[in-house]
Amino acid sequence: MRIKSAEFAACAVRRSQYPGDGLPEVVLIGRSNVGKSSLINVLVKRKGLAKTSSEPGKTRTVNFYRVNGEFYLVDLPGFGYARVPRSEKISWEKMVGEYVAGRAALRGALVILDPRRDPGETEELVFDWLERLKIPVVMVLTKADKLSRNKLNSRAAGIKRAFDIEDPVLFSSLTHDGRVTLLKKIQEMLGGNFLEKVSP
Ligand code: GTP
Ligand code: MG
Repeated sequence: MRIKSAEFAACAVRRSQYPGDGLPEVVLIGRSNVGKSSLINVLVKRKGLAKTSSEPGKTRTVNFYRVNGEFYLVDLPGFGYARVPRSEKISWEKMVGEYVAGRAALRGALVILDPRRDPGETEELVFDWLERLKIPVVMVLTKADKLSRNKLNSRAAGIKRAFDIEDPVLFSSLTHDGRVTLLKKIQEMLGGNFLEKVSP
């Protein structure tokens, strides 16, 4: 898949604000500060398209980025940001649950994990949700540059076992490791052939 264009299309806090054109969507789900927005920027090679921050809690709405005029990457607010008040935590579940459970255009989810920490209750909950809804999932271990290759491979093997999934994609927004692999996975989720073959 060659990235020809990528643009911000919409931000939403409720269903009526989602795009209505029916293009297929792939969503990114993960803990706050894990690197979801950075990953989008690297995938589409557009620095600063999705806003990022070293402070957790940057993304607060469901953000839709249209790629090649053919599909959307959907950036969600992260979960588990301790300083978010309780009322806002509930609205995270509501906002994300409403998106994931009711979206006919959703073709797949990238569940983003930091390989330096163990997946928690919320990751397991999200994984179960997606499985029950039969939404294909690809696990992505981001910030791969922060660990040695050995350590990273052993963390990936542990996560693969724990969730009973295919190999997670090892990704770094710093080095762009894993970018082409992830584009291929996204292409598979989108159902393949109407997009051009993957090239970097
Ligand atoms: P929320 O919007 O709060 O949910 O966070 P997010 O998951 O979108 O994270 P974001 O992309 O804003 O990145 C958080 C911080 O991690 C930023 O300081 C990024 O520069 C840094 N970061 C993201 N990806 C990587 C990576 O692959 N390697 C390294 N070293 N840092 C990264
Ligand atoms: Mg973000």
